[in-house]
Amino acid sequence: MTIERVVFLAGGIGILDSGVGGLTVVKEVFRQLPLEEVIYIGDSARCPYGSRPTHEIHTFTLQMIDFLLQFEPKAIVIACNTATAVVLEEVKRKISIPVIGVIEPGARAAIRETKSNRIGVIGTLGTIRSRMYEKVLRKTHPDLSITSLACPGLVPLVEDGHRKMEDAFQIVQRELEPLKNISLDTLILGCTHYPIIVDLIQKAVGDDVVLISSAEETASELSSILALNHQLVSEHREPSHRFFTTGSPDAFRKIAEDWLKRKIDVTQVTLDHPISERLSS
Ligand code: DGL
Repeated sequence: MTIERVVFLAGGIGILDSGVGGLTVVKEVFRQLPLEEVIYIGDSARCPYGSRPTHEIHTFTLQMIDFLLQFEPKAIVIACNTATAVVLEEVKRKISIPVIGVIEPGARAAIRETKSNRIGVIGTLGTIRSRMYEKVLRKTHPDLSITSLACPGLVPLVEDGHRKMEDAFQIVQRELEPLKNISLDTLILGCTHYPIIVDLIQKAVGDDVVLISSAEETASELSSILALNHQLVSEHREPSHRFFTTGSPDAFRKIAEDWLKRKIDVTQVTLDHPISERLSS
């Protein structure tokens, strides 16, 4: 009898999202930390999270964290604004490795960029409802003018691979219509799916508005933390990344390879397990 065992090396970076949005963070991690191994899980079968009740977002995200912990990552990035708003603080308390969300990095980048102090935030219903961006932005800059807008129609455009469809721009324009007469100089893409359609968003809001994706700042925060902990990979080897999805591996691979500009292997998994003790207590 042969026993097949898959042996994974410990010490990669776990990255999660409700679907393909977190790949925008992966791309920056690849650019800034090319020697690090990434283990990615996207819950495309249950995406979008943004319109779900908080308790579902909570359970589904903890299931993804549980899934990543089996690979013994040295850090986890919650590359989903909706999930960051719901679980970041709780997960940070419960596990001993660094856990990074995407809201604080995005807010920091926007504060650096704005000249007029008039900032817009677009995100999912869950993220906008949580008012997390406003809280974080106002913590250090109480006099900012902040306009927040939920755009539930944008994630399906990305997740279903429809961003190149003829009416994609009309959908983006319709979603962003409420911002039309509001003067902003900086707009936070408060959902990690949005950088994938950044060209359409920029066209809709005009070239005078600077768009902020949290990906770059998140990867640089990750890099600083790993450097501080002396955990950066220093030996020059080709990292072997692993991508998992709960949805169709073919659909995931198509979007991922197009976005990341490289070939990847994708494995389908299910995530309906009860939350483990280390996270449920
Ligand atoms: N990519 C996710 C975010 O940053 C959410 C998409 C969704 O599932 O609604 O919020």
